[in-house]
Amino acid sequence: MDKVHVGLIGCGGMGKSLMKGMNGVKSASLVAVSDVSEKAVKAYAEEKGVAWHTDHRELLARDDVDGVVIAVPNKFHAPVTIDAAQAGKHVFCEKPMAMNAAECREMISTCDAAGVKLQIGQVLRYHGDFKYSLQIVRDGELGDLFYGYIARYGTPGGLPGAWRSDPDIVGNWLLEVSVHEIDYARLLFGKPVAVTAWMYDQLSEGTVKPDMCNMVVEFANGGVCHLVMGQFSALGKVEAELSGTKGAVRFHWNKDFVVRKMGEEQECSVDRDTIAGNLELPTQREVREWIECIIHDTPPTIPGSEGMANIQIVDAAFVSAREKRRVSIEGSGATGGC
Ligand SMILES: NC(=O)c1ccc[n+]([C@@H]2O[C@H](COP(=O)([O-])OP(=O)(O)OC[C@H]3O[C@@H](n4cnc5c(N)ncnc54)[C@H](O)[C@@H]3O)[C@@H](O)[C@H]2O)c1
Repeated sequence: MDKVHVGLIGCGGMGKSLMKGMNGVKSASLVAVSDVSEKAVKAYAEEKGVAWHTDHRELLARDDVDGVVIAVPNKFHAPVTIDAAQAGKHVFCEKPMAMNAAECREMISTCDAAGVKLQIGQVLRYHGDFKYSLQIVRDGELGDLFYGYIARYGTPGGLPGAWRSDPDIVGNWLLEVSVHEIDYARLLFGKPVAVTAWMYDQLSEGTVKPDMCNMVVEFANGGVCHLVMGQFSALGKVEAELSGTKGAVRFHWNKDFVVRKMGEEQECSVDRDTIAGNLELPTQREVREWIECIIHDTPPTIPGSEGMANIQIVDAAFVSAREKRRVSIEGSGATGGC
């Protein structure tokens, strides 16, 4: 196979963004789209000049579709992925991989049994500051990394789409947003071993619950990562600070990025061009890698096991917060690129 014929399931914001990324992938071509909203699917199919369906199973029955990009609300990731695998289609599934680890396991085993590739859209690892900081850590510039502080919290009501206010469909804030930072933490530290979490609902309306979560993840290498997550602040921020035996890094996403080595008198700013210059569009990179793994029959760069490892941490966090205890886990360290 030298070209992969793709079907898109879910023609909302992220589905369109992934197709924009796919525009730069010469070995992929969109042949059909599907959405439960006839208005949305017809308009997008017209724009792209492709076939459309309101039932994803009709799209999956097409012989001219090799693989599908799934960008539907969270609750439907598992059932649509399973339908796709059973129809013999390769799958790119948006994050969060599923609503819980049990669903992830079923998705992986169904894709394995069908012999189709499963890639998960943990795209944050391909964004400038995150990618650049991962590279610094992997190059050993900070020495042995032992502490991370990652905060991503927003303003109540800041997320679009009615489904995001329905816990039955969105799940929770950790699934909808924090799986990105959890994924990043695993890339930084490797295999997680335990999670302790505290969750609070401080605000009554306009938030995906829990609206505030503090979490400490312990890793097999002795590293500890503290995550602050939620939708509780009128200010909001995305910030990370990493400390190792030789130095530290701190950044605010798309704003400032500083590094300071032990013994140096002051911190050094890294300019935006160094961080983001020549960066492949993250959505293009994730789709390109999925297409290439299909063409070359190689393992996906972000396989189902990686999506599941993030969800295992989310599951453990809820047990920890509910039972007020530290919860051991059997997650795996991330293996994908940065
Ligand atoms: N990787 C990222 O950074 C990122 C960013 C945004 C969203 N996402 C994820 O992408 C997914 C979609 O989010 P969005 O922002 O595009 O939402 P959206 O509301 O803009 O679009 C979702 C679309 O799916 C359609 N839909 C719902 N159920 C369907 C079904 N069973 N079959 C076909 N279509 C169906 C809806 O009609 C809608 O058009 C979510 O899982 C979200 O978490 C990821």
